Amino acid sequence: MLDKAWKHLMKDGVGIMGMYGMGGVGKTTLLMQINNKFSEERCGFDFVIWVVVSKELHVEKIQDEIAQKVGLDGEKWEKKKKSQKTIDLYNFLKKKRFVLFLDDIWEKVDLTEIGVPFPAPENRCKVVFTTRKRWTKNIRTRSRDPQLAKDIARKCGGLPLALNVIGETMSCKKTVEEWRHAINVLTSYATEFSGMEDKILPLLKYSYDNLKGEDVKSCLLYCALFPEDYLISKEIIDYLICEDIINGSDGIERAENKGYEIIGDLVRASLLMEEDGREVVRMHDVVREMALWIASELGREKEAFIVHAGVGLNEIPKVKNWNSVRRMSLMKNKIRNLAGSPECLELTAFLMQRGELVNISSEFFKSMPKLQVLDLSFNEHLTKVPDGVSDLVSLQYLNLSDYRYPSSP
Ligand SMILES: Nc1ncnc2c1ncn2[C@@H]1O[C@H](COP(=O)(O)OP(=O)(O)O)[C@@H](O)[C@H]1O
Ligand SMILES: [Mg+2]
Repeated sequence: MLDKAWKHLMKDGVGIMGMYGMGGVGKTTLLMQINNKFSEERCGFDFVIWVVVSKELHVEKIQDEIAQKVGLDGEKWEKKKKSQKTIDLYNFLKKKRFVLFLDDIWEKVDLTEIGVPFPAPENRCKVVFTTRKRWTKNIRTRSRDPQLAKDIARKCGGLPLALNVIGETMSCKKTVEEWRHAINVLTSYATEFSGMEDKILPLLKYSYDNLKGEDVKSCLLYCALFPEDYLISKEIIDYLICEDIINGSDGIERAENKGYEIIGDLVRASLLMEEDGREVVRMHDVVREMALWIASELGREKEAFIVHAGVGLNEIPKVKNWNSVRRMSLMKNKIRNLAGSPECLELTAFLMQRGELVNISSEFFKSMPKLQVLDLSFNEHLTKVPDGVSDLVSLQYLNLSDYRYPSSP
């Protein structure tokens, strides 16, 4: 597959190459392999640029990522408007030979709007992208009873991600009856959610439903509050303890160990990925989508989890009914102000760290009686503790670290 894609891409007349396939089929992996081949061989290109596009398309975020990769970023760049960034990028890139990788495009991406010169035989530049579309491929899976294993693999549509995740779920099922039952359940899920565009989500839900313990399930849903491709660290365990998902009454050490066990369970279920030698985990973007789908009560309560993390937002998103929001993550954005006084009677967690907050109105936290977790850390422009925080009667976790506190008189 890699050879075939590589040969095609390297043909002189090929400027743009797209790879279609539903989530979990192996697109990112293939794209990464092509990217690595370029890193090894260079092939006369000045820049090999990788950008994750994700579901919410923000042109400026793509521009910033490209600028960073080609060394145009910095304080001066930050101050520029989108249109100026377009011009600057274009002027820079038109003199270079580049290959641009765009992983996971959902909507049409307008290269001109970003400032990327259109790849043509004359400039010998290339753009390679991946996107999702219904498509199946046959791959065999490891077998216990060959026929039953084949049936399960067929239910997974040959998708490597589904095969991995369901393979782990099945590994603890020993009897033929258990395997038959799994096939029946997978079949019923497929029927129940047959209208869904993403066929893999109901499959992954089967593994979610098989997780032992509500705490393990809640932890998985919690991980979806972080941005795509984010390295999730131990802080998540603190959130879980402060939201009483993990019982903290027997001491903090015991609770933390429980947290590590839960994360271990999710890694063993292939629903989280461990990073070698580091105390962090990652969530596959398709697993994250499944988690967000489940958190929204399978799409019935779209606003239960509001997650716009790391997508370059400048203002707080529109919400129809604040009272239906249970958890909200706006971390890693460019929102500067939190104004108004939304009535959020069900909100238990609000993650807003690693942003550019400057002002929070004193009224903002007034109607959040159930808020237990509030993370405002790493907003370096916030200079004082927001007034309204004292109104939060249920608050268990407050992180304001790395503030620039005004120096004391
Ligand atoms: N050719 C392959 N054979 C086996 N497993 C694969 C293959 N390609 C990808 N995978 C695994 O399948 C999972 C999904 O792959 P990924 O590239 O992330 O899919 P996509 O980007 O299409 O959602 C990953 O865990 C990856 O390691
Ligand atoms: Mg992908």
